Amino acid sequence: MSDDVLYTSDLHGSETHYRQTLDWARRSGVRAILLGGDLAPHGSIADQQAFYERFFLPLFRAYFKKEGAADIWWIMGNDDWAVHVALLERAGMPRLRHAHGRVCAFLDGWSLAGSAFVPASPFALKDWERWEDGLGASTRRDGFRSGADGQPLPFSFVGRERSEAIASEFATIGRQWPEDPSRVICMFHGPPYGTALDQLHGNVHVGSRETRRFLEERRPPLSLHGHIHESPDVSGKFADRVNETVCVNPGQDPRHPLRAVTFRMSDPAGTLRHTLMGAAT
Ligand SMILES: [Fe+2]
Repeated sequence: MSDDVLYTSDLHGSETHYRQTLDWARRSGVRAILLGGDLAPHGSIADQQAFYERFFLPLFRAYFKKEGAADIWWIMGNDDWAVHVALLERAGMPRLRHAHGRVCAFLDGWSLAGSAFVPASPFALKDWERWEDGLGASTRRDGFRSGADGQPLPFSFVGRERSEAIASEFATIGRQWPEDPSRVICMFHGPPYGTALDQLHGNVHVGSRETRRFLEERRPPLSLHGHIHESPDVSGKFADRVNETVCVNPGQDPRHPLRAVTFRMSDPAGTLRHTLMGAAT
C-alpha cells in the first residue's frame, strides 16, 4: 500500500532538499505534501523574495503540471519574512495552500490545523514569534518585523507580552476546531515543550509550553513540527507523545539527505516512517 502524505520542514532554501521532497513524493505516490515552515534561505527580505521568484514558485509551477502531482499545504517559519506570504498566495497556484492560522479541509474528510508561530527566540526576525511565559534567558526581546514597504521595521516585545501572546493565536485555531477531534492533524512549526522534539545539544528543552497545553487540551491524533533541527539527533527520536497525541519533528541538516516522514491516512500516527530513521518507535 502506498503512503498518502509526506511531511518535511526547515528546508531553509536548500534546492537539493526541495528536489528530494518532490522525488520522494513521486516515488511514494503521496496525495499531499506538507511543508512545515522555514521555507527560504536565511537572509534579507530581498534575498528571500529572489528565492521565491527564481526557485520556489517555478519549481512548484512545473511540479503541478506533472501527472499525479500531490496537493501542497505550507506554513512559514520563524526564519521566513512574513511579507512574502502574499507573493505565494497570489502566485496563481490554487493547489499550493497556505495553512497558517487556519483549520483547512484535508484528505479523506480530515482537517489540517496550521500555525507558523513559535515562542520568542534568541533570533532577530520576529514576524512569526509570539510571547509566552517561562522563556529562557537567551530570549531576545528586540528585533525586526517585515514592513509593508519591504523594509524591516524595529520591533520589541517589551510591554507587549500580553497583546503578543502565542496563546491567543492558538485560541484562534481552537475556535475553528471541527466537531470530530479524532480526524485533525496539526502542523505547527514549533514543537511542544519537554519532549524528544524540542531539545538542543545538552538536552536543553526550548519548545513551546503553550503548544503543549493546546495539544493536551485538544488531543489531535497527530501533530507535525520542526524548528529545532538537531532534536531528533540529540534525543534519538523523531516522534514522541503528548498524552495520546503523537508528535513529530523530522529534524533537518543541510549536509545530509532529506529528513521527512510519510504516513497513511488510514492510521496517520501508526504508519509514520522517517526517510532516514525508519519506523517510529
Ligand atoms: Fe528552521
